[in-house]
Amino acid sequence: MNTINLINLMKNYSISKIAKTALLSTLISSGVSWSKNPEPKDANGNPLITIKGYTFSDFNKNGKLDKYEDTRLAMADRVQDLISKLTDEEKASLLIGIGMPGFDPIKFEFHPEADLGKVPGAAGGTFEIKRLGLASVIVSDGPAGLRINPKRDKDSNTYYATAFPVGTALASTWNTELINNVGKAMGNEVKEYGVDVLLGPGMNIHRNPLCGRNFEYYSEDPLLTGKISAAMVNGIQSNGVGTSIKHFAANNQERNRMGVNAHISERALREIYLRGFEISVKEAQPWTIMSSYNLINGTYTSERKDLLTTVLRNEWGFKGLVMTDWFGGYNSFMAPFSPNSVSNVNAQLSAGNDLLMPGMPNQKQAVLDNIKSGKLAPAVVNKDLSRIIELILKSPSMSKYNYSNKPNLKANAEVTRQAAAEGTILLKNDKNTLPFTSKSTPLAVFGLTSYDFISGGTGSGDVNEAYSVSLIDGLTNAGFSIDTELEGKYKPYNAAQNIIEMERRKNNGGLLATPKRIVELELSKETIESKANSSELALITIGRNAGEGDDRKVNEDFNLAADEVALINNVSEAFHAKGKKVVVVLNIGGVIETSSWKDKVDAILLPWQPGQEGGNSVADVFSGKVTPSGKLTMTFPAKYEDTPSFKNWIGTPTENPTNVTYEDGIYVGYRYYNTFNVKPSYEFGYGLSYTNFEVSDLKLSATSFASKITATVTVKNTGKTAGKEVVELYLSAPSKNTDKPSSELKAFAKTNLLQAGESQTITLTLNPKDLASFVTDKNAWIAEAGAYKVAIGTSSLNIKQTASFSLAKELVVEKTNSSFAADVKFSDLKH
Ligand code: BGC
Repeated sequence: MNTINLINLMKNYSISKIAKTALLSTLISSGVSWSKNPEPKDANGNPLITIKGYTFSDFNKNGKLDKYEDTRLAMADRVQDLISKLTDEEKASLLIGIGMPGFDPIKFEFHPEADLGKVPGAAGGTFEIKRLGLASVIVSDGPAGLRINPKRDKDSNTYYATAFPVGTALASTWNTELINNVGKAMGNEVKEYGVDVLLGPGMNIHRNPLCGRNFEYYSEDPLLTGKISAAMVNGIQSNGVGTSIKHFAANNQERNRMGVNAHISERALREIYLRGFEISVKEAQPWTIMSSYNLINGTYTSERKDLLTTVLRNEWGFKGLVMTDWFGGYNSFMAPFSPNSVSNVNAQLSAGNDLLMPGMPNQKQAVLDNIKSGKLAPAVVNKDLSRIIELILKSPSMSKYNYSNKPNLKANAEVTRQAAAEGTILLKNDKNTLPFTSKSTPLAVFGLTSYDFISGGTGSGDVNEAYSVSLIDGLTNAGFSIDTELEGKYKPYNAAQNIIEMERRKNNGGLLATPKRIVELELSKETIESKANSSELALITIGRNAGEGDDRKVNEDFNLAADEVALINNVSEAFHAKGKKVVVVLNIGGVIETSSWKDKVDAILLPWQPGQEGGNSVADVFSGKVTPSGKLTMTFPAKYEDTPSFKNWIGTPTENPTNVTYEDGIYVGYRYYNTFNVKPSYEFGYGLSYTNFEVSDLKLSATSFASKITATVTVKNTGKTAGKEVVELYLSAPSKNTDKPSSELKAFAKTNLLQAGESQTITLTLNPKDLASFVTDKNAWIAEAGAYKVAIGTSSLNIKQTASFSLAKELVVEKTNSSFAADVKFSDLKH
C-alpha cells in the first residue's frame, strides 16, 4: 500500500476543498488509501486528510465531502448538487456580477467593503460563496492584451502586461498559427496575473471605416474574422483560462451604442454579422460570450432568446456562458445610476444571458424579488446558474491556482514584435524603395507620431504596458541614425501637446474619452529642404487614434488634415527634387483615405497600431530583416462616400442615433466593391512583398461537388529574398434563385517562410456550407445547383488561377429556426 502524507501538501498549497478532492480522486485511482486517525485540523478547524486506510466513501459518510466536490462525478451532477444547496439570496448574487472594484459609484453602493479586489484593474467578477468554497471568477479586458493596473498601493512590484498588436494588425497576418501563439502568450499573462477570463477577442465586423473600435476587431469579412478569432481563443484557452468573444452582435458603431436599434435582415445577420461568431464557437468553444449593448430589430441583444439560445446554443452548440457587456440592457451609462432604474433582468436571464455585468444592486434586488415571487421561472434560474457554476468550477481561481504575478514579459515582447512585423502591410513600394539599408546619412523622420508611436487604441482595448517602442527608437535599435535637428523639434512639441491632450481626456470621460488628433508641427520649407540635402530618405508617420464611446469623423480623420497634406507635399517635393525618396508609415487604427496622396510618395507601410514593440517591428520590415507579408483585411475605398454603408451610417438622429438601418445588407466591404465594380484605393486581401511569388497548378479534387472539394495550388518564391505569401480562395456561386456577391472568401492559408526558389503546395477545403447562402423565406442555408467558380488570388482582385466545379442538385445544407423578425420595413441592397 502506498502511504503519502497529504497534510504538508495541503498546507503548502492551501488548496480548496474541491482541489483536495481532485487530488484525492487521482490518488485513489492510482491505488492509494488513507486513514482518518488521528483526524487533523487546519488553522480554521477544518478537517485535513491523512492517508492511511481511509477510503473515499468514508468522506461521504462522514459528511465531509459533498457530491459537488467529487471531481469523479459528471460536471452536470456536481453543478446540480451545488444549485440545490443555494439559498435564493445566493442565487440572485451569482446571477449578477459583483460590480467594478475601484469604480466608485458601484463600489460604494454595492460593495462598501471592496478595495480593488484580487486583481486591481480587472473589470469585474462573480460572487464568492465562502461557505460552499465557491471562488469569485475574475474577468478582465481585453483584445490586445490583459488590461490591469500596473501599480498597486503600498506595493513596489509592477504588474505590466504586454501590449500586443491591435486586433486589426493581428488579423492582417492572415496567419492562424501565429495568432494561436499570440493567444498562448496572452493567456499566460492572464493566468499568471490571477485572472480567469479575458474579455476578448473583439470580433465585430468592420461595417464602416469610421467605427471607433474597428482597431479592436479583425475584418470586414466574417470567415477571416471567425478563423482568426478561433485561433486566438484556442491559444488563450490552452492555458486553462477563458475568453469572452464580443460583442454579440452587430455592435458596429460606437455612438449611442447602448441605445441604438440596428435594423438588420436575417440574411445579413446570418451571413455577415453572426457568421464569424459561429465559426469561433464551433472551432474553439470560448468559455464565455459577451452580448452587445445595441438592440437588433427592436430588442436588446441581451434580451433576445433567438440570438442567445435558439441560434447560439441550439443551432451552433455553444456550451459556455453569456454575460452582458458592462451595464448592457440600460440605455445609457447614466441610467444604471438613477434611483430605481433597472435593466429588464427577467428578459435578459430568460433569453439565456446568464450573467449581468458588472452587476448593480438594483438588478440583484429585482432578481431576488422575481425568484421569490416565481416571476423568474425556476428552470430559467437553474439553467443560467448551471452555466455560471460550471465556469466557476473550471476556473483557476477555484483551484486556487498559485499564480506568479511574473509572466514572461521578455519572451512575450518577442512574440508581439514578430506578430506586428508579420501584420505590417506594404501598400506601395515603387522602384524597390524598401527595404532600406543604407546607413550613410541620418534618416529625416517627420510626423509627430514617429516620435510617439501609438501602440493601441483607447478604452477597454488599451493595455498598461511597461514601455512602447517608437519608430525612431526602433530605427535607432536597428542601427540607423536619426536627424537630430528634427528630433530636437518634435520631441518637446510632442511632450507639451501630450500634457494638454491627457488633461483634456481626463476631463472628458477619462478611459472613455475620445482621443483628439494633435496638429502637426509646422516646419519651414527651408528646414525641410535642408533635410533633403543631408538625408538620403524621408519617413513620414501619419497617426490616428480612436476608442470606444464614439466614432471617427470624415474630416481630419478619415481624410487627412490640411497640416498633414502640407507635410506630405512639402517633404515629397523637397526630397524628390533631390532625387530622394519618401516613405509613409501609417500608425493608424482604422482605414483612412489614401488615393489623393499615395502617388506623391514612394512607399507606404501600414503597421496599424502594432503593440509595445511597434518601432522595432516596423524597423524589422523597413530594413528587410522581415519580408512583409501582411494583407488588408478590409477595403481602403477611394473616397469615404464609396463606402456601402455611407448612406445610412450612424443612423438617425446623427448626434445620438436611436435607429440605424443596414440597407447595405450582405454587401459589406469587398462584397460590395467587387460586385458593383467600385474601384477602391486598395482592395481587400491586398499587400505587397519584397519578393515575388508564382501561383500555379490549381487542381480541384473533383469536377462535381459531393460532400467536399479540395483545391491544391503551388506557390513558388520566384524572387531573391525569403518571404511568405497568402493564398486566398474566392468562390463565385450560381445566383439564379438568390442574389449573391460576385465572389466571397471561402478559405485561405499562409505559406511557410519560402526561401528564394522554394515552393509549397497548399490545400484548401470547401465544405457544403461554403457553397450556401442563407435563404430567408426557406429558413435554410442552400447551395444552388449549377457551376461554381474557384478563384485563387493574392488579393480579392489579383486572381492568379481559376477552376470550376458543378453542383448537380440543389443542396439544403442546414435548416434553421426563423429568427430576428424585422421591426420596420426596409429592403436590403440587391445587385
Ligand atoms: C466594453 C467591453 C469591455 C467592458 C469591460 C465595455 O465598455 O464595451 O468591451 O469588455 O466595458 O471593461
